[in-house]
Amino acid sequence: MTSLRTNQDLDPARLREVFGIFPSGVVAVAALVDGVPSGLAASSFTSVSLDPPLVSFSIANASKTWPDLRRAPHLGVTILADHHSAVARQLAGPVDNRFDNLSLTATDDGAVLLDDGLAHFDTTIYREVLAGDHTIVLLQLHTATHTGQAEPSPLVFHRSRFGRLLKPL
Ligand SMILES: Cc1cc2nc3c(=O)[nH]c(=O)nc-3n(C[C@H](O)[C@H](O)[C@H](O)COP(=O)(O)O)c2cc1C
Repeated sequence: MTSLRTNQDLDPARLREVFGIFPSGVVAVAALVDGVPSGLAASSFTSVSLDPPLVSFSIANASKTWPDLRRAPHLGVTILADHHSAVARQLAGPVDNRFDNLSLTATDDGAVLLDDGLAHFDTTIYREVLAGDHTIVLLQLHTATHTGQAEPSPLVFHRSRFGRLLKPL
């Protein structure tokens, strides 16, 4: 039997590598802040609760965007599709260009959604839980919609790379 290596492997670079073995989708979290779209890409999104309807993502405490974004009355969450790898990078890049050439819809409450996403949530912050160097943000859903189409498939983030799902088993 192969023995597992223990906590000499818990430095951040090594942890990032090991966490990356778990595949995830990617979302855009975005809202109008002072009338201007603000947001970021997040792969830490997960569904949490049906009643009340909750999802979560984790934001780095070092984020420069989150202190402004969290002030928005509503936050939009868009699940990205497999053709969005460049969009995901853009949404993690220089703040002034994150929404360049993206087709967006803003709700009356200022949630910002990417028009060609696979699913959309209109949310408000339910709770923020400090968790080490990140904060777990619980979001309460006000609307949840999806395209209803089997294609395209979701964007997948795995081992620090983007990919797509193969056909279902
Ligand atoms: C695929 C992908 C997933 C990401 N997931 C997260 C995440 O879950 N949480 C997070 O805080 N940042 C995540 N980031 C980084 C943010 O998108 C952004 O680059 C970072 O927050 C720095 O920008 P800021 O200082 O404006 O927040 C991710 C970036 C990429 C490309």
